[in-house]
Amino acid sequence: MLILRKGIILAGGSGKRLSPLTGCISKQLLPVYNKPLIYYPLTTLMLIGIKDILIIINPGEEKLFKKLLGDGKNFGINLNYKIQNKPEGIAQSFLIAEDFLGGDACVLVLGDNIFYGDNLFKILQNAYNSKNSSTIFGYKVKDPERYGVIEFDKKNKVKSIIEKPLNPKSKYAVTGIYFYDKNVVNYAKKISKSERGEFEITDLNNIYIKKGKLKVEIFGRGSAWFDTGTHDSLLEASNFIYTLEKRQSLKIGSPEEVAWRNKWIDNNQLLNLSKFSNKNEYGKYLEELIPFHDNH
Ligand code: TTP
Repeated sequence: MLILRKGIILAGGSGKRLSPLTGCISKQLLPVYNKPLIYYPLTTLMLIGIKDILIIINPGEEKLFKKLLGDGKNFGINLNYKIQNKPEGIAQSFLIAEDFLGGDACVLVLGDNIFYGDNLFKILQNAYNSKNSSTIFGYKVKDPERYGVIEFDKKNKVKSIIEKPLNPKSKYAVTGIYFYDKNVVNYAKKISKSERGEFEITDLNNIYIKKGKLKVEIFGRGSAWFDTGTHDSLLEASNFIYTLEKRQSLKIGSPEEVAWRNKWIDNNQLLNLSKFSNKNEYGKYLEELIPFHDNH
């Protein structure tokens, strides 16, 4: 039996590393090639099959997010918004989302993370389908000291996660998508703030590890993961999406397309959405997805 998981997109944060780009706008609304950054994590949740989604944002940004995404009806989903008053850590998401979750299991995705790859989505879907489990996902990186790093024991079992270690014990970073069971809010309440003043997601993961309840899956070859928090990584992500879209004649991170493929919206609804961008290639692409569409 499928268990219901709700989705959370954490889309606040101070975005200091992207300054001055983020001087007056959330980083999640910045462009990654031809779409706002938040389209990518939103589409990731939709591809997994999640329709009930909470977007956590900074004070004062609700109008902009709502202008872009509304209540989700256009994409056949249900979007809710909550404010995080100060960026006090990723694990604070679950305290903010307590009422929204109402005791359900969930998937949290960071608003500045982009995931790509066939195999990667199979891994995510398996995690979604596996009953009452909590799973995080590792990815081999060159600079693990920037992330939560997975420490494995001799049998390749996960021993612990260490946040931004000076001497990383492996090259595997914890990526910004996390599946948790229904206990997540209770465990998040046990965490106190770290020295840097944040409720650390790594502390939450270590609670699950100590209880023997956390699975770690690795995104392997052919998967791409971008954390777009710096100028260079934002540009790299744009270049990557540009190259793939040109080569494959397919769009990546289009919530309109995914809603339609999931049969959450019909041909007419997709056609209407395509009209918002009817002066460009994005709109034309959406329109041409519809069988027997008439261009004229
Ligand atoms: P980070 O990139 O770690 O933090 P940041 O966005 O504040 O950026 P910077 O370090 O440059 O100041 O955040 C990862 C993602 O999580 C990003 O999408 C923002 C989001 N986030 C919140 O919404 N609230 C928070 O309290 C934190 C820590 C992050």
